[in-house]
Amino acid sequence: MQNNTFSALFVGQNIVKLSKVDSTNNYLKNLLSNYAPLAEGTVIMADHQFAGRGQQGNTWQSTKGKNLTISIYLTPTFLPVSGQFHLSKAISLAIIDYLTPLLGEDCKIKWPNDIYVENNKLGGLLIENTIAGGKLKSSIIGIGLNVNQTKFDDLNHANSIKNILGKELDLQILLKELCGRIEKRYLQLKDDKTEILHIDYLGKLFRMNEMADFIVRGDQVSGKIVNVSIDGALLVDVNGEIKSFNFKEIAFVL
Ligand code: BTN
Repeated sequence: MQNNTFSALFVGQNIVKLSKVDSTNNYLKNLLSNYAPLAEGTVIMADHQFAGRGQQGNTWQSTKGKNLTISIYLTPTFLPVSGQFHLSKAISLAIIDYLTPLLGEDCKIKWPNDIYVENNKLGGLLIENTIAGGKLKSSIIGIGLNVNQTKFDDLNHANSIKNILGKELDLQILLKELCGRIEKRYLQLKDDKTEILHIDYLGKLFRMNEMADFIVRGDQVSGKIVNVSIDGALLVDVNGEIKSFNFKEIAFVL
């Protein structure tokens, strides 16, 4: 039975399907820099992304035809630059909203926006914003989600929906449902419901309020994640002192 509850009105209404591309984020960036008129919510979807980009200059590997590799064009012009982490929260929550009914409550967001099930990474985001006059002008939301791939390099702590669920998913159906979830969270953001987004984000945060080990400047540190600041820094209680970490300053011990 079709679930229309999360049908999207604009996210995914225009889908550009590519059989092969270096990176869907690069492709969308090129379209925008050539002033192509694009409807907000346009999705670029690749069957084979051969030079996918991840965070921190990493590569994103995805077996041809098996996974979701997409970039979505959004224009969150209502968001001040200082609030751009809210967009990251909204999108990662939307992916969790989609995955939880399928895979259960173990679906979590590993700060800042990795998608984890138990100790394994199912997906990640590469969000690239342009800014004008202190506000966001456009946003390329790159999403990589491991769906039907079954073999991964052991060192990467990666997994897929198929490995957990034991069955393949249709990528087109998945995309449609995910677009509905993304639109819902994006409209929550547009409606200034950032407090709800923040509470929901903390509620789904991997190792939130748990004693855990981290690597900070080469040393192992034990602490408890207690919050995430408005600008996205991770706040960790280390021996009773709240320390703030930006991206790249702290790593989880998995
Ligand atoms: C990460 O966890 O490091 C982020 C991975 C983001 C990968 C996606 S796949 C679609 C889009 N195009 C890219 O080149 N990267 C993102």
